[in-house]
Amino acid sequence: MTTSVYKRTILITGATDGIGKQTALDLAAHPDNFVIIHGRTEEKCIATKEWIGKENGNGTNIDYVAGDFAVLKEVAIIAEEVERRFPELNVLLCNAGVLYPRRLETKDGMESTFQVNYLAHYLLCNLLLPVLSHNRSNVIVVGSVLHTWPSLDWADVMAEKEYEKYLQYSRSKLMCHLMAFALHRRMNIARQHVNVNIIELGKEKEPNNNGKLRTTSALSSSMSTLSICRQAGNLAQLIEGPCLEKISGKYLDPSGKQMRSAI
Ligand SMILES: NC(=O)c1ccc[n+]([C@@H]2O[C@H](COP(=O)([O-])OP(=O)(O)OC[C@H]3O[C@@H](n4cnc5c(N)ncnc54)[C@H](OP(=O)(O)O)[C@@H]3O)[C@@H](O)[C@H]2O)c1
Repeated sequence: MTTSVYKRTILITGATDGIGKQTALDLAAHPDNFVIIHGRTEEKCIATKEWIGKENGNGTNIDYVAGDFAVLKEVAIIAEEVERRFPELNVLLCNAGVLYPRRLETKDGMESTFQVNYLAHYLLCNLLLPVLSHNRSNVIVVGSVLHTWPSLDWADVMAEKEYEKYLQYSRSKLMCHLMAFALHRRMNIARQHVNVNIIELGKEKEPNNNGKLRTTSALSSSMSTLSICRQAGNLAQLIEGPCLEKISGKYLDPSGKQMRSAI
């Protein structure tokens, strides 16, 4: 399939719910954009594709790829499929995220938050680099203000000794920040035309003095619809605007304003 008639061919990971789904809806509303929804299951991807098509009155500029980030082999299959079916890919939004109340392990034997939020995206970005660098692309990684909270525990990266859901979530986001800056540097040194930025969506509460968070969840299941829409709308505007063409290796708020990362 060719998407070369579109200005942007955008892959959004975790686009079957929350901010990713709303951002996919907003971006697909514009005829310049071709949106590839990524979701964990084929059923949810099809349902999301149909919902967006109905909402926008046009489903011709949407497609999907399905695969579970808790299985690294599936991430490799997604990358191969995207490269084969959508060689014009020029925007990758790394959005999928989880926050598990209890420690879970993936089929690959990794702690699940670590793998879904960070490692799967690391693998996907790296496998898609040939196509992304060919097309002068933007990679946008969804970060979190919580990356400033913890330091990494290199002796217990898999959180086997200690698992606290916000701590592990925050550490996974810190790794996403490191990944984005490292990828930016690699692209810069290799003179590849891939801009890599990390974006802050705001809203999560920071830990209080006891090191505990006051919110019950950092993901959208606990947020109002209005708040999700606002964050997603800002994200869509950022992707469509000129800001990302000129900057790389930065930590940005959704309006494109540079913020200070803890790294
Ligand atoms: N909401 C906030 O206040 C907030 C604030 C700052 C940052 N963020 C970040 O924003 C991003 C989106 O958050 P959200 O609130 O929109 O989350 P959400 O509503 O829970 O949606 C998460 C998305 O990730 C997908 N996903 C989960 N596990 C997966 C797996 N194993 N393989 C593939 N896909 C998987 C989900 O698919 P299913 O539909 O199959 O579950 C869903 O599409 C996350 O990176 C989060 O950390 C959120």
